Amino acid sequence: ELDTERFIAEKVRGIRETVGDGIAINALSGGVDSSTVTLLGHRALGNRLRTVFIENGLMREGEAAQVAGWFRELGVTVDVVEARDEFFAALAGIADPEEKREAITQTFYRDVFGRIVKESGARYLLQGTILTDIDETIAGIKRQHNVFEQLGIDPQDAFGYRIIEPLIELRKDGVRAVGKALGLPSEVFTRIPFPGPALSARVIGAVTPERIETVRKATAVVERMLGNTGAFQYLAILHEDRVTGMRDGKRDFGLQIEVRCWDSVDARVAEPTQVPFDTLKTLALEIIRAVPGVVSVTYNIAPKPPSTIEAI
Ligand code: XMP
Repeated sequence: ELDTERFIAEKVRGIRETVGDGIAINALSGGVDSSTVTLLGHRALGNRLRTVFIENGLMREGEAAQVAGWFRELGVTVDVVEARDEFFAALAGIADPEEKREAITQTFYRDVFGRIVKESGARYLLQGTILTDIDETIAGIKRQHNVFEQLGIDPQDAFGYRIIEPLIELRKDGVRAVGKALGLPSEVFTRIPFPGPALSARVIGAVTPERIETVRKATAVVERMLGNTGAFQYLAILHEDRVTGMRDGKRDFGLQIEVRCWDSVDARVAEPTQVPFDTLKTLALEIIRAVPGVVSVTYNIAPKPPSTIEAI
């Protein structure tokens, strides 16, 4: 059983010792992990911590404003850093999942954070890596976007700064408990997981602004309509294949969206949620209505393993 107060006190002390009287940068995406790290970091460093949200063009509808709003209420200023063009340029023409992840990693850590850290005079980046991220990377399942030292990569050499990861020994359930104890609103500490590569982890094949917009619209429908299932995670995936369908009485070689909804405790193993069939049918109709070009909606019924939660 995790003693959250003790954990918080220990980590606050550790962050203070490491950063000394310098400043640090903190990567906030608004997920449970980075939100928890943000509050821990502010408890430790106060205004010597600068919190940034990277607008990479791959986030969900209205996400930057929503996250900045939550933290404003908590007394934390969030700098939204515009980097859309940089991410789409780095992803252009890449279809392979691991190459996509590598492009995201380099753009985040080498290019964008490299620049922010250097300009600010900071020496540390504070971020919310958790144990599951490490496990899956070491097991060779996928290289999570935020894992370095366990792969023999020294962030100081590769990017020019050190990384502080106070949540590295926790899994999702532990992080939620710590986030709650730190005073995150329940809307935030109960948020479903969302991957670092964001919607680019949900586009099979090439990532373009148009294809991201398609999966963004489908994601909004899925999150709205499956939000009351209590599932661990639910998402939409845009497939590369096109399928024949019909719209307005005419043949339409259209897009295919896959919906996944998972029951899980810590993301290591997962089972598809038994969503009522009527809900799935309503969901399909709503996706077809709200997302231009979609003619097929499927529901994944395979467990993890051998499936994984995300598409790449
Ligand atoms: P998979 O797809 O490997 O996902 O079954 C396991 C859990 O991790 C999330 N995920 C990521 N989180 N960076 C992250 O911070 C990543 O690169 C990444 N890839 C997957 C995923 O959403 C699920 O909760």
